[in-house]
Amino acid sequence: MTDDPVIANLLTVLDANPELLPVRISVIELLAARGRHAEALSQCATALAQDPVNAQVTALLQRCTAALAGAAGESAAAALASTTSAAVEPEAADSGYDWEAAEEQVGDIIQPAFVNERSEPYAEGDVGLFERPKLTLADVGGMEHVKQQLELSLLGPVRNPELAKAFGTSARGGLLLYGPPGCGKTFVASAVAGELGANFYAIEIADILNWYTGRSEYNLKQVFRTARRKAPCVLFFDEIDALGHKRSHLSGSSSLRSTVNQLLTEMDSMTSDNEGVYIIGATNHPWDVDVALRRPGRFDRMVLVALPDPEARVSILRHHLKDRPVEGIDLNAVAARTESYSGADLAQICKSATQLAMADSIRTGAVRPVRMDDIAAALAQTRPSTGAWFESARNVVEFANNDGSYDELAAYMRTRDNR
Ligand SMILES: Nc1ncnc2c1ncn2[C@@H]1O[C@H](COP(=O)(O)OP(=O)(O)OP(=O)(O)O)[C@@H](O)[C@H]1O
Ligand SMILES: [Mg+2]
Repeated sequence: MTDDPVIANLLTVLDANPELLPVRISVIELLAARGRHAEALSQCATALAQDPVNAQVTALLQRCTAALAGAAGESAAAALASTTSAAVEPEAADSGYDWEAAEEQVGDIIQPAFVNERSEPYAEGDVGLFERPKLTLADVGGMEHVKQQLELSLLGPVRNPELAKAFGTSARGGLLLYGPPGCGKTFVASAVAGELGANFYAIEIADILNWYTGRSEYNLKQVFRTARRKAPCVLFFDEIDALGHKRSHLSGSSSLRSTVNQLLTEMDSMTSDNEGVYIIGATNHPWDVDVALRRPGRFDRMVLVALPDPEARVSILRHHLKDRPVEGIDLNAVAARTESYSGADLAQICKSATQLAMADSIRTGAVRPVRMDDIAAALAQTRPSTGAWFESARNVVEFANNDGSYDELAAYMRTRDNR
């Protein structure tokens, strides 16, 4: 089969000693370098049987699959073009599919895959993620209600400061996005930054708190300093409930209290110049957010980012299937069958379906695109993950909504119940 003497020799060695993984990896590399991807792929399968999590082999496998998919790209594109209007765009498929990048996106959905450009390296003392998103609200599928609220409470006032003044509204203070996990809070916040042509600066509250005691306030100060320096900037605080006494392991500690106070001081327009710094917080558990943070002038506007509607589900599915070889996927049909699924659940379905097609491809040595039956199989294995969240939410709207903070949530729960 092989006329390359080096490869031939190595294969002879492997015949006698099949367990020599480094040798097999060398063979795979040589085969890939010679463009013999199908053979390389079958060697990858043997190597993975031996060591299923070997990073080097996985990377080679992705490279070979991608190369083969490039060859199969045309037929995949044709298949895509013939599916319904809601199918994955052909250009996504025929751009040659980069499995490695695509895996990265699905592997960690919290990592904003939509961010295209990293701005300058962090200055010393900076924490968090700093990016300049190209994404805008137009990239957010469905969720019209969320977009409307963002327009009213943040984008409108920022774009029309004079008008906002006349109506006594402003973009000052913070906006709190809340809802079940994996439904687009981070995604939406990043889109707001893109919409404003602003930097997106994402901070996990835990990253500030986990540092050794006494540093939390300093860290927070640094974060605001950086955000002001990078204005216009959307300063995104994720998991803001970590500052709440109910959940934190630092519960009751004076350190936590002073961190909350520091945050209030930094947010306070009287003591801080936050011109061009738009503060958005996110939480899955708004009921655990420190009450001091929810007072007027602080995170006083709450926006529910609920489960994705059908249109949002189509966008999410499209996002997670782009850059993969697909055939005959009817996104509308999948969206119709995934009523209670979160964005994270949908990402999981796409990932499982892709793995099924990939396993088949490895077995046969030829790329087999992801099809509807893979999606169906993945769907059968994946249950909606937000049940527990809705249970907490139900208690809150029933027993802890005296001030009407959760009216929007209550209304949403009613529409769900009535369906
Ligand atoms: N409306 C939408 N349109 C397109 N894609 C979406 C939409 N909503 C969510 N997504 C996709 O779903 C993924 C998960 O969303 P995201 O990470 O923003 O959720 P989250 O609410 O911040 O989750 P967590 O609670 O885990 O922090 C995003 O990376 C994005 O690709
Ligand atoms: Mg998030």
